[in-house]
Amino acid sequence: MTELEQVGERWEYAPAPESREIVQLRERYGHYVGGEWLTPTETYTTIAPSTEEALAEVGQGTAADVDAAVGAAREAFPVWGALRPAERAKYLFRIARILQERSRELAVLESLNGGKPIKESRDVDLPLAAAHFFYYAGWADKLEYAFPNSNPRPLGVAGQIIPWNFPLLMLSWKIAPALAAGNTVVLKPAETTPLTSLFFCDVLRQAELPPGVVNIVTGDGRTGAALVEHPGVDKVAFTGSTEVGKEIQRRLAGTGKRLTLELGGKAANVVFDDCALDQAVEGIVNGIYFNQGHVCCAGSRLLLQESIAEQAVEKLKRRLGTLRLGDPLDKNTDVGAINSAQQLAKIQELVASGQEEGAEIFQPECRLPEKGYWFAPTVFTNVAQSYRIAQEEIFGPVLSVLTFRTPEEAVEKANNTAYGLSAGVWTEKGSRILWMAERLRAGVVWANTFNRFDPASPFGGYKESGFGREGGLHGLAPYLELGE
Ligand code: NAI
Ligand code: MG
Repeated sequence: MTELEQVGERWEYAPAPESREIVQLRERYGHYVGGEWLTPTETYTTIAPSTEEALAEVGQGTAADVDAAVGAAREAFPVWGALRPAERAKYLFRIARILQERSRELAVLESLNGGKPIKESRDVDLPLAAAHFFYYAGWADKLEYAFPNSNPRPLGVAGQIIPWNFPLLMLSWKIAPALAAGNTVVLKPAETTPLTSLFFCDVLRQAELPPGVVNIVTGDGRTGAALVEHPGVDKVAFTGSTEVGKEIQRRLAGTGKRLTLELGGKAANVVFDDCALDQAVEGIVNGIYFNQGHVCCAGSRLLLQESIAEQAVEKLKRRLGTLRLGDPLDKNTDVGAINSAQQLAKIQELVASGQEEGAEIFQPECRLPEKGYWFAPTVFTNVAQSYRIAQEEIFGPVLSVLTFRTPEEAVEKANNTAYGLSAGVWTEKGSRILWMAERLRAGVVWANTFNRFDPASPFGGYKESGFGREGGLHGLAPYLELGE
């Protein structure tokens, strides 16, 4: 054992939980339709994945509930769409401010219902959610300048379906540009993480947003399908699995409804031998263990240049040993709970396939809590490109390590996937960064960093990662009719 490791071992962390008391949960929640709470006909229980504790009863939206919500959005559209753009902007600014003011409540709720570490919901999800509303508030009255000579007009009602990995942040990515452009919205959160979307309805009331401009219907894929198919919806925006994305695209073919899809990924994080290796190791860890790897743009395939592979893997394993797994509400926690039993089963199945196919598994020593859904941070070495763990999206804290010799080989391996959402490059050479960025088939290429987000920068994929962009001006265009 090195001296450094001995020092590291002396650190003990006392529990430092964020108080739950700040959030007032109701026993039951309805659907938010036309500014009122609609009593659901069917309900289910939403839980805390870290303890399996029941948190609240929420509605399982039926076709009738979706119909009521789309009706409310249609009714609100003529007024909202015709409102002076600077007035629309005021509401968005107000929402952004309230998100900031209530960020502690929302961060606790996000960690409770989704399982992510509080330091991530507090320092990443919430600030970015507010930033998206601030950013799009700024564009609401400048659409004529953003899209000159194209008479930008809203589309009508947007049906928006979001996943469970960044519930409130995905809500913000969807709702902020839709409203800035003058559309009204029906949004369906994921079935495992409805609570921050429902809390957001109180934010809307506090902001005095006119009734019907935003409607929230909870429920599972059946509710989502009813929303996609509703004839009163003009545009569908979806973030989730490639499988469901393809299904939605088939359903909408020939209907004239607009569609954007943000689907899965299998990003390559490419590390060259001239990089600052310790920084790269931090970037690799952030790339795949952030949010338990429940990240569509996660750097799940690590491509190491052969000359530094051994050293890099050794550093990485040592770093993994210092990650603290446990209570999502503890401020010291690095790795929280897996979002659901279903997602845990998927991760376990893929990890077992990696072992069967011949990859070598490493997991640091860590005790998994008895209750709830947990998976230890995992690294696979000896991975061949053909293995399922190198091809399929695992969406968990599992990294597959491959090696390369030349930049050409790195590009070829990086692009050898059905996806194309993001990629990372680690090198001291600026020219190499540009050379790589030109050749990597990915919507986002990070250089000497990973998982960096800003509302001004567009995000989206190639190939089976979907189409359309969110963020920036690019993110407004899909919510606008442009041209004659
Ligand atoms: P999913 O695609 O089934 O769920 C995402 C959203 O779509 C949820 O709100 C869900 O209720 C809704 N939905 C499901 N079926 C629908 C349908 N037929 N029509 C309309 N909406 C529907 O994803 P799931 O099952 O939760 O996760 C499976 C895998 O998908 C994950 O393991 C991961 O690999 C990937 N995924 C990718 C995400 C991303 O950010 N790109 C987010 C979530 C999952
Ligand atoms: Mg599904």
